[in-house]
Amino acid sequence: MQTKRIKKILKKTKKSPLVCLTAYSKIIAQIADKYCDIILVGDSLGMVLYGMKSTRQVNLETMVRHAQTVKKFTKNSLVIFDMPYKSYKNKFMAYKNAKKVIRLTGCDAIKLEGGKKIVNIIKYLTKRKIPVMGHVGLLPQTSKNFRVKGKNLMQKQSILNDAIAVSKSGAFAIIIECVIEDLAKKITKIIPIPTIGIGASKYCNGQILVTDDMLGLSDLMPKFVKRYSYLKKNIEKSIKTYSQDVKTKRFPSNKNLYK
Ligand code: KIV
Repeated sequence: MQTKRIKKILKKTKKSPLVCLTAYSKIIAQIADKYCDIILVGDSLGMVLYGMKSTRQVNLETMVRHAQTVKKFTKNSLVIFDMPYKSYKNKFMAYKNAKKVIRLTGCDAIKLEGGKKIVNIIKYLTKRKIPVMGHVGLLPQTSKNFRVKGKNLMQKQSILNDAIAVSKSGAFAIIIECVIEDLAKKITKIIPIPTIGIGASKYCNGQILVTDDMLGLSDLMPKFVKRYSYLKKNIEKSIKTYSQDVKTKRFPSNKNLYK
């Protein structure tokens, strides 16, 4: 299931890789919108913004609040709503919730984690005009550990089968998370829909990262993240200087005064 907007963005994969990032807030959405094809309002916000232990604690209401803001400040990129854990336990619940979040946020599509097990849900949604992005490989909502996937033959075959099943069920694109290069390359070659990698090699049709990770704003630093900035350190430096300025009365100075 592809809308005109989705088709337009996906057409680009023929020329160059899709650029994708997460956003949960106004400023990041505004900046990402200038450079990204796709913005994901990821449930990673549970861990990144709210300090939760996993993404499983994130609920639909929290996701809707963030997605409304991101969508409001995004003009060009596709905005994808990441359906939180237990919000798509069966096809009826998935449809009810997906319809609701699209109505409330105006997002272009939803994302679901899983392979063969959720194919009937993806089919049900796409037949009812809900655009779906898939997500295979490491699945943060359900994976027992956060280790690289596809190292043994059985796992490799199972993830490949998942990706094929998702692509046949009507999803318009698929995220592949934290798998070995060979597997990502094979999936990308075999399935007809664009693959977007996060820790899944340059062979994918696009790349996505959690923005806070690449900006150096989070403590988590998997090998697949490239740091483009050191915001946490910069923020600490600024707050430390502010604290010293207040204590020594260097702030406020004459420049900050009303007379
Ligand atoms: O929630 C999220 O940010 C994601 C990305 C890791 C792809 O699903």
